[in-house]
Amino acid sequence: MENKQIVITEFGSAETLAVATSPVPVPKADEVLIKVAFSGVNPIDVKTRAGLGWAAAQNKDNLPWVPGYDISGKVVACGAASTRFSINDNVAGFIGFPLQGGGYSQYICVAETDLCAVPDAITLEAAAALPLAGQTAAQAINNAEVKEGDRVLILAGAGGVGHLAVQIAVAAKAEVYTTCSEANLDYLANLGAHAVNYQFAPASERVSDVDVLIDLVGGDIALDALKCLKDGARVVTVPTLSAELICEKAKLLGFTANGMLVKPDIEQLDALMYMVSVGLLKTEIHKIYPLEQAQDAHLQIETGHTRGKVLLGMQC
Ligand SMILES: NC(=O)c1ccc[n+]([C@@H]2O[C@H](COP(=O)([O-])OP(=O)(O)OC[C@H]3O[C@@H](n4cnc5c(N)ncnc54)[C@H](OP(=O)(O)O)[C@@H]3O)[C@@H](O)[C@H]2O)c1
Repeated sequence: MENKQIVITEFGSAETLAVATSPVPVPKADEVLIKVAFSGVNPIDVKTRAGLGWAAAQNKDNLPWVPGYDISGKVVACGAASTRFSINDNVAGFIGFPLQGGGYSQYICVAETDLCAVPDAITLEAAAALPLAGQTAAQAINNAEVKEGDRVLILAGAGGVGHLAVQIAVAAKAEVYTTCSEANLDYLANLGAHAVNYQFAPASERVSDVDVLIDLVGGDIALDALKCLKDGARVVTVPTLSAELICEKAKLLGFTANGMLVKPDIEQLDALMYMVSVGLLKTEIHKIYPLEQAQDAHLQIETGHTRGKVLLGMQC
């Protein structure tokens, strides 16, 4: 049996992604071996492949490197001391974050404590869409202490993180405003948000008296959105590159402001799975690419206009 993986051979364009083959790994005592069904593709994978950010800096002498932090699949072997899962169980995880990666693999060994069970009511596609994006969304909403009745503005509500953040904020009974292009207005309105077309006018001309800003875009767009906030508002800015600038400006204006780096948390992932299983949260899958088309999956993320999540079908 062979284990196909997608590797970054050198930092650069999507063409530097290649298929490599390695032996199927053997689980250590506390690990299980997973036959990966789907692996999530996230903007951080694309940035790292391009040589940007600290995951790239840390792995520059470690190429070829296998990206990927989101996996779902089936347990096919259990380590001697592992007790939580049995062969054929469906599992998902937010793994190897941020330095190790490894999710773009057909087979991978993962410590059983880093995995959660996928309930029968959830597809493996949905389970692979949730870990990094879902936990980023949940942690951003938690950090901002969103509560019932808050007017919440989420920039980029249609993206991988955004579509989940919108739904979590709606479930918390906030009044949710979100920015998107024309093509996503109906989609986001159907999720319960007031959708604002950023192509028509900047957010600052369309939304006011906002209690909480969840920024998933960064840069000038986020700086403009600060004009939508009321006194004492809370800001969570998620793109790391511009976080310092935005927090500084927000604090000067008297707001509470924080950047964040998502942290894997199995209990939270379980809670998100539960929300999906009871219909409180819907994952949107933009497209599933066979693993051999990983380059196209990265190019799709690079468009900046993915609705929901891009996945790799690891057994296609
Ligand atoms: N700090 C952390 O721990 C952490 C964790 C996860 C993600 N992130 C970062 O957070 C950001 C969002 O991640 P993601 O996975 O959601 O990205 P994504 O899925 O690639 O986001 C794509 C979405 O962005 C929207 N968009 C593009 N330009 C926009 C604009 N000017 N105004 C409003 N919406 C716009 C697009 O909507 P339209 O097609 O309608 O334009 C599209 O739906 C990325 O920068 C990512 O690196 C950080």
